[in-house]
Amino acid sequence: MKFFVDTANLEDIKKAYKIGVLSGVTTNPSLVVKEGVSFETRIEEILQAVPEVESVSAEVTPDAVTAEEMIAQADELIKINNNDKNITIKLPMTLAGLEACRYLTKKGVKTNVTLIFTANQALLAARAGATYVSPFLGRLDDISEDGVQLIVKVAELFRIHNLDSQIIAASVRHPDHVTRVAMAGAHIATVPFSVIEQISKHPLTDQGLEKFANDWKKAVQ
Ligand code: G3P
Repeated sequence: MKFFVDTANLEDIKKAYKIGVLSGVTTNPSLVVKEGVSFETRIEEILQAVPEVESVSAEVTPDAVTAEEMIAQADELIKINNNDKNITIKLPMTLAGLEACRYLTKKGVKTNVTLIFTANQALLAARAGATYVSPFLGRLDDISEDGVQLIVKVAELFRIHNLDSQIIAASVRHPDHVTRVAMAGAHIATVPFSVIEQISKHPLTDQGLEKFANDWKKAVQ
């Protein structure tokens, strides 16, 4: 399973890139608004900061409701960093979003269909040619459903039917989600940088380092 970082915060994106584990970046309108910066400028900054990843998702804005409006926005987003091959157009899981997905896929543009909460929605997005589908786990957990089970189902469905779309486990909130979606067969987990930090740590690692440091003070010079 690959890691994408789910943020529009440039510093967090750079930190994840520096440690060499990053395969992509996902953003959404809420994450961009949180940064208090212009959407297009931030997408350009992200594309330039992470040249060696496979995908940077830029989502069409909520005022694009029809497929035509989404495609018009995608046309502008694609140009942001000189037709950067990594730009991925993130589209909502609606009928219009599917129509835009099929159109952009035919044009060779990468797409990510977002806000997926059922296996059927994932199946539709895959059939519309989505490069990536994004089932949201945390928000299902929030309404007392088991978000990880959705990933289990989607992974099985895509395997049975030989579907090429990559599953991005999204709305990942904590380390146990990461382990469980990896075992369920997600191709990618998109996570906040804080989760990358959390999963890099273990109390026994810290204790071991402290012991080595203390013992080393007694080393023969
Ligand atoms: O990638 C989707 C993600 O941004 C949503 O996460 O925590 O707002 O449900 P969350």
